[in-house]
Amino acid sequence: MSARTSPAEAFEKIPTVLYADAPEAAAALAQEVRDLILECRANGRAPVLGLATGSTPVPFYRELIRLHREENLSFADVITFNLDEYYGLNRHHRESYFRFMQEQLFAHIDLQPHNIHLPDGTVPLDEVFNHCAAYEDAIRDAGGIDLQILGIGRTGHIGFNEPGSSRDSITRLIPLDRVTRLDAAADFLGEANVPRFAITMGVGTILQARRLVIMAWGSNKADIAARAIEGPETEAISASFLQSHPHARCLLDRAASTALTRIRLPWLVGRAAWTPAETRRAVLWLALTEHKPVLKLRDGEYNEHGMAELLTRYGKAYHLNIEVFNRQQQTITGWPGGKPHADDTSRPERAAPFPKTVLVLAPEPQDDVLGMGGTMERLVSQGHDVHVCYLTGGDLRITDAEAIRFARVLLETSEQDPLRWKEQIDYASGILEEIDAKGPFGDPPARLRRLKALIRRGEARDAAISLGIKPAHIRFLDLPFYTEGRYRQFHLGAPDIALVGSVLATLRPHQIYLTGDLADPSSVQGIAFMAFKAAWEARLNQPWIEHCRVWLYRGHQSEYTPHEIEMAVPLSPDQLAQKVQSIQKFQSHTLPDLLDGERNRQTARTYDDLGTAEYEAIEAFRCWHR
Ligand code: F6R
Repeated sequence: MSARTSPAEAFEKIPTVLYADAPEAAAALAQEVRDLILECRANGRAPVLGLATGSTPVPFYRELIRLHREENLSFADVITFNLDEYYGLNRHHRESYFRFMQEQLFAHIDLQPHNIHLPDGTVPLDEVFNHCAAYEDAIRDAGGIDLQILGIGRTGHIGFNEPGSSRDSITRLIPLDRVTRLDAAADFLGEANVPRFAITMGVGTILQARRLVIMAWGSNKADIAARAIEGPETEAISASFLQSHPHARCLLDRAASTALTRIRLPWLVGRAAWTPAETRRAVLWLALTEHKPVLKLRDGEYNEHGMAELLTRYGKAYHLNIEVFNRQQQTITGWPGGKPHADDTSRPERAAPFPKTVLVLAPEPQDDVLGMGGTMERLVSQGHDVHVCYLTGGDLRITDAEAIRFARVLLETSEQDPLRWKEQIDYASGILEEIDAKGPFGDPPARLRRLKALIRRGEARDAAISLGIKPAHIRFLDLPFYTEGRYRQFHLGAPDIALVGSVLATLRPHQIYLTGDLADPSSVQGIAFMAFKAAWEARLNQPWIEHCRVWLYRGHQSEYTPHEIEMAVPLSPDQLAQKVQSIQKFQSHTLPDLLDGERNRQTARTYDDLGTAEYEAIEAFRCWHR
């Protein structure tokens, strides 16, 4: 068990272990579970595991399955209790946690059905109280939970203990927070379909486990993980209650750890190496904290924030300020493809060759325009040869209502000449029948998914064309991991990597734009990034790759923090308006909070606060340092 050992972790009130990535953390945790199972068995008692659902435990469950298959780990005597279940969903529902557990774990190991426990989402309202009490009793009768696995929601919940849940709460029916419902909206094809209630183990129930492990992956979890680990224990973040458990531990991947003090403000815990990157981060942080432009920071402010050591290296704040200010200023360029014939020594992108072959990879349609619509338009208008490649169809986000609308239009058009259009009539009525037969939450048959992907495809094409991309330069790869999978059940395979590789080999681009490097590894963006990385690594010996630069953008994730940005492309009000119009081409599904370009305005405001020129909006990029 990891104890708080180094001063670096001084701010962490839950012992926290950092891993390079989720699979590495999952492998370590699976080994721990194996040891626990063997230990309980040696002591003559059944091991009791508390399990979670959601994206987070997926890599861990895959590792348990591997241990079962390849290393003969048996679960025959293991007893499990799951944290929660949506209220109103029966066990066969596509999104029920019971079905999730079957598909992700139970069906692949030798767990005995009578040892599996989940709250029942279908008990009538007047029986819920007794059902919950019986759940508590069952945990107690099993001897209590040896090890409870947890994920953390963006509201800070564990189980479904939403903000306001008390430390002593027990298993109960609870209304779901709006943020939680929004996060589940993609699974349920729209927020309106997400159940409003769930049955969850209480915080008190969870804290009774003898050992607790909470995990978080991806940059979207960084802030809430840091607040749970370093902030006060509070009902506003139920995960923070793990702080007072004697055997709780948190596992984070690199992307989810970035808001921890030891990573964000390392000099406060005595670990700063004051590399150029760390220095830049510290100075920008100081400027934003003090609400002062970089060039106005004084010696006293550095001293007050424990950064005196940094000053001693530079002599005076003035020298340090100038260096960091220039660095930040140099990230700004109106020439994302490089400025031809200009001195490029301190520009983000090389001047030559000109024009460049540029490949924009979008894991899901809309990632591209959200993240870099303005930059796409710039690249085209500056004469570069811009290609856009949509890696997946994005159909899982499209509601049946959209497909019904298209099928009806086709049906009514075809019925004007029924003999000639018989096949079309059959197709359209077939789609309508399929939708009817599967009901709102049945698995969509391949043909329906295809229609939805085509709807999305039309929107993606319109959006890209509105930014000046030539229709012939728009590709749709329909990677099989997505076409054949569903959320949280995606498996990257060799065919995915080969398809991405073939685009790279055909185009041999000078620039590639991509997102997903810091995403949850089970998300579409995370998997698409892995496919790209594998395709890239398989071509390392090809000459073009040496001259290709990979720029990372942010799709629907939160923006890079200023110190991370290596290229900032300013947009005028007109350019931002054009970008927003391109986003609005996506009518079948959209993300309301990203519609208005506010995120890009905020990045520009931050640059303004730091003392660089004032722009309407900025799109931000980082270079992929392979
Ligand atoms: C699921 C559960 C939740 C999730 C949390 C994170 O049983 O109890 O607390 O762990 O909502 O969800 P993901 O992992 O999907 O980000």
